[in-house]
Amino acid sequence: MLDRVKPQTLQNAAFRDDVIEGLSRPQKTLPSRWLYDDIGSALFEDITQLAEYYPTRTETAILRRFAGDIAAFTGPNAVVIEYGAGAGVKTKLVLDALDSPAAYVPVDIAGDFLAMTVHRMNMTFPAMRTWPVVADFTTEFRLPSGLPAGRRMAFFPGSTLGNLDTTQAELFLRRMRHHVGLQGRAVIGIDLLKDVDTLRAAYDDAQGVTAAFNRNLLSRINRELEGDFRVEGFKHVARWNAAERAIEMHLVSLGACSVTVDGQRFRFAPGETIHTESSRKYDLAGIAALVEMAGWTLEHTWTDADAAFAVVGLGTVG
Ligand code: TRP
Repeated sequence: MLDRVKPQTLQNAAFRDDVIEGLSRPQKTLPSRWLYDDIGSALFEDITQLAEYYPTRTETAILRRFAGDIAAFTGPNAVVIEYGAGAGVKTKLVLDALDSPAAYVPVDIAGDFLAMTVHRMNMTFPAMRTWPVVADFTTEFRLPSGLPAGRRMAFFPGSTLGNLDTTQAELFLRRMRHHVGLQGRAVIGIDLLKDVDTLRAAYDDAQGVTAAFNRNLLSRINRELEGDFRVEGFKHVARWNAAERAIEMHLVSLGACSVTVDGQRFRFAPGETIHTESSRKYDLAGIAALVEMAGWTLEHTWTDADAAFAVVGLGTVG
């Protein structure tokens, strides 16, 4: 316990506070943003390659097919702001199609990951400047001053909007509208409602990669917050919540146990769960209603032949 005196980074303190607060609730929860440390980010990349996980390849195919339309909708010399910098495949597809993009602004909570993104973008797009922003995009943050004057386009792929609850989603969409200003655009990827078996398989794959991704959160608590979770004592489950239209990821405690995190003790009954993530699914009418509530107009809907996934083009009103 002597290393309790070691100085904690701010990030670590925020993680600790979230974990202590989340595990103290009647329904224990852990905010999903903490899933993405280096190990978690690598496991998530593996998820995107799984046969069962259709969203990534479907969205990528839509972006590839409609890249020209998206570029026309965005216009020349755009400043592209991306919330949560991904591995770059989707971003590159869009930037390749755009007419002389002026700047790329990746916003991500993971600084190391961003540094890699900047380096890669500078190699691939030498004429475009990349302005990284280290921030949690679900909170208020400022864009760099001195960005070029071109029209701003907010890019938010991966159905990450579905990981926010309705209140958070509306707030986020409003903030995004402030970021792009008048005449701004947004291009957002959203997973659509479909049969529950397909959804459940996408979030609980046969190889157990999603299970490993979810359980890594407990290992991370052990590593970074002096937790003593017995990780094998928790099982990954994906549940369909019909009322919320959401797939929920939980970690189920197989037996009764107690866990200590940063000196605080938490008890688990057999079968008790920690809720780690929700992935909401929308239909097209629901997407339109949500974006309009936040002051956007839905101008384009690009989908695949099976209508499994939608990429929407949003414009600002007035
Ligand atoms: N944005 C992704 C989604 O909702 C995130 C995700 C995919 C995820 N698989 C997961 C999050 C498994 C937690 C656990 O589809």
